[in-house]
Amino acid sequence: MRDPAHQHPTRPLLRIPQVERLLAQMTLAEKAGQMSQYPGRRADPEQIAEDIRQGKVGSILNAGTLERRNELQHIAVEESRLGIPLVFGRDVIHGYRTAFPIPLGQAASFDPILVERAAAVAAREASEAGIDWTFAPMVDISRDPRWGRVAESCGEDPFLASELGAAMVRGFQGQDLRDPTHIAACAKHYAGYGAAEGGKDYNSTHLPEQLLREVYLAPFRACVEAGVLTLMSAFNDLNGIPASGNELTLRRILKGEWDFLGVVVSDWASMREMIQHGICTDEREVAIQALRAGVDLEMASRCYQQHLPELVESGVVPPELVDDAARRVLNVKHQLGLFDLPYAETPKSSVAVCAEHRELARQAARESAVLLKNEQGILPLGKDLRRLAVIGPLADDPQEQIGCWAFDARAEDSVTLLDALRDRLRDAVTIEFAPGIPDCRSSDRGGFAEAVAAARRAEVVLVCLGEIANMSGEARCRAFLDLPGVQTDLLRELSETETPIVLVVMAGRPLVIGAECKLARAVLYAWHGGTMAGPGLADVLLGDVAPSGKLPVTFPRTVGQIPIYYAHKNTGRPPQDDGKRIPTGTPLDPRGMNSSYLDVEASPEFPFGFGLSYTTFDYDRLSVSPLRTPVGGSVTVTARVTNAGRLAGDEVVQLYVRDLVGSVTRPVRELKGFTRVHLAPGESTQVEFVVTSQMLAFPGRDMSSTTESGKFQVFVGGDSRATLTTEFELE
Ligand code: NOJ
Repeated sequence: MRDPAHQHPTRPLLRIPQVERLLAQMTLAEKAGQMSQYPGRRADPEQIAEDIRQGKVGSILNAGTLERRNELQHIAVEESRLGIPLVFGRDVIHGYRTAFPIPLGQAASFDPILVERAAAVAAREASEAGIDWTFAPMVDISRDPRWGRVAESCGEDPFLASELGAAMVRGFQGQDLRDPTHIAACAKHYAGYGAAEGGKDYNSTHLPEQLLREVYLAPFRACVEAGVLTLMSAFNDLNGIPASGNELTLRRILKGEWDFLGVVVSDWASMREMIQHGICTDEREVAIQALRAGVDLEMASRCYQQHLPELVESGVVPPELVDDAARRVLNVKHQLGLFDLPYAETPKSSVAVCAEHRELARQAARESAVLLKNEQGILPLGKDLRRLAVIGPLADDPQEQIGCWAFDARAEDSVTLLDALRDRLRDAVTIEFAPGIPDCRSSDRGGFAEAVAAARRAEVVLVCLGEIANMSGEARCRAFLDLPGVQTDLLRELSETETPIVLVVMAGRPLVIGAECKLARAVLYAWHGGTMAGPGLADVLLGDVAPSGKLPVTFPRTVGQIPIYYAHKNTGRPPQDDGKRIPTGTPLDPRGMNSSYLDVEASPEFPFGFGLSYTTFDYDRLSVSPLRTPVGGSVTVTARVTNAGRLAGDEVVQLYVRDLVGSVTRPVRELKGFTRVHLAPGESTQVEFVVTSQMLAFPGRDMSSTTESGKFQVFVGGDSRATLTTEFELE
C-alpha cells in the first residue's frame, strides 16, 4: 500500500485515566467487542445477552424499552469481565414522541435557534426512554429530489446545512454531555451519499475532490466544529471506493485534517456490503479495509468481532489501529458519563409530548410552511368566511403528517389540519370534509363526486394533497415527481367548480406541481409537519402569523431538469432560453447554442430561498464597508428591509456572494448569510452581515483551502434571485 493508514498524522486522542486502565487490561477480543454494535431487536435475545457477557458487544441500536435497555446494561456492567457499559443508539431524527417537521421542513424555517430547540426537545424525550445517542443530524447535501432521503436532509446548500446541522448538534448534545437530558449526536452519512446517481438510494457517487470538499463535506466539518461526538460512514461507493472503506474521507480528511476525536460508526452493514461493492473478497478483508480507513464501530455486521483479533495476531493490521478505535469508543462512553451512570431511570413525570414541546412543534410547523402562490390575497382565510370545504386524504391523516423516520411518534398525539380548523373555527364556519380519494396513492375516483359537491357548496375549498410518509426516507426514491395516484385529476375536477382553491401540499420532497399551482389560487407547501402540523398550518391559513418559510431546495419544473440547484456554475454558455423559438426549417439557426433545453425553460418552478408572505418586503440601501479589504480581513454588508404591506410578518433576509474570477470556476451565487426579522407594517430595519475572507475560501487546485483576491458581487434579498447588488474587493 502506498499510503498506509496508520501513517496519516492524526491528533493524539485524549488519554482518560479510567479508559487507559481498561485498555491496558483488555484482550484483543474485548477491544473488537467495543467496536461492534448489535441491533437489539432482530437477533436471538439469549444470544445477545451471552455475547454481551463475553465482552463481544460495545453498543446496541434499537434496544427497545427502557427496561430492556437496563436489562442489557446490567449484563454488561455486572456480568462481563471488565464491566464496560454499553452505549445505546437509535434514530431520533425529527423528534421523539413529539414529532417536529421532517428535517427538510425544518430547514425551510431558516431558523437555527428553532432547529436547535427542536433537537434539544428530541434529546430530552429520547433520554427519558434510555437512549444515549441519536443517528442525526443527517447533513447530506441533496440536489436530487428523486432521492427519498432528501426528506431527512437540510437541502441543497452547504451553508444552510452547515448552520442547521451545527444547530442540531448543539441541541442534541447541549453544553454538558453528562447531563442526562442530552444525547450524543451523529453527523451522517459521510460522505457524498446524497449525490447518488439518478437519485437512487445506495447508488454510486462520482464527486471530484474539489466539489466533494467544498459542497458535500462542508456541513460535516461544521458539525465537527460544533463538537459532534460521532459520524456515520455511508453506504455509497464514492469515486470507486465505498464510503465505509474510504481512507481519504475518513482517516485523511476527517481524522487527519479536521482532528476529529470522536467515533466513526458504519451505517447498517455498510462495512460488509463492501463485498457486494466488489472491493473486498470476504469479511476478513472488510475488517482490514474498514479499520485502515478509519471506521471505529461496526453497525449490524460482525466483521470486526470475527476477524480483528486474528488480524492483529498475525500482523496484518497494526494493534495501534485497534487501540485507537477502541479508545475512541470508550472515550465517548466516558464523555457521556456512562461509566458513572450506566442505567437509565424512569422519570417521575414524563415530558413526552408535554404542552411546551407541542407548542414548539407547532411553531416549527408554522415556520416550515412555504407559501408558493397567493393570488388576489385569498390567504389568509377571511373573517367573513362561512362555508369551507376541506378535501384530500392528507387533511385528516394523523399518521402520515408525521413524516418518515419517526418510529416513536404516535398518531394519537397528532392534530390534523381538519381537527385544527374545526377547533379554531367552531360555529363560525361550516366545514365539510370529503377526502375525495381513500389515500393519496389510490386511483379510486369513487369519492370525487362527493368532494366536488362539497366544493360547490363552499366559498373556499382547501385541498390537502401530496405524498404519504413512506414515499420518502430510506430507499423511497421516485422516478416521477408528480402527485401520486389520481390527486391531480381530483384537483382538476374541483377547479371546474370555480370555487377558489387553496392547495396545501404535504410531502417529503419537492414535487413537480406547476400544473397544480395553476389550478389553485394559493399554494402552501407544508412538507410533513409532524405532531402539530394541523395547528401550525391553521395558524398560517387563518392569518395568526404570516407564512415565512423559504425553500431549502430548488423546485424543478420537470424531472428532466434534475439536477437543478441555484449554486451552479456559469458555464461558457449560460442558458438563454432562446432555443425554443427556433422556427422549423432553419437548421443553421444560431439561436439556442447555449446550456439549456429546447423544451423547458432554464429556470426552476420555484428557486432556492423562495417563499411568499402575506405582506411584501422591499430591499434598499445596500452597502459594503470597506469596499476593499486584504485577504484575511472582512467586510460588513448592510441593507434596509421594509415591510411594505399591511400585515406584520417575518422575512428571511438572505445574502449571496459571487466570486467573479477564481483559479477554479466559482458558482454563480453562494448563500453566505441569512437572518430572520420580524417587521410590523411600514416598519424598516437594517440588517447586517459580516463576510470574512475565510468564508470566501474554497479548495484550490491543490485541494488546500485558498482565499483569492479579486472582486466579489453581493446580493441581498428574499430569495436566490435577489437583484439588489453591489461589489467589494479582496486585495
Ligand atoms: C440505515 C440508515 O441509512 C441510517 O440513516 C440509520 O441511522 C441506520 N440505518 C440505523 O437505523
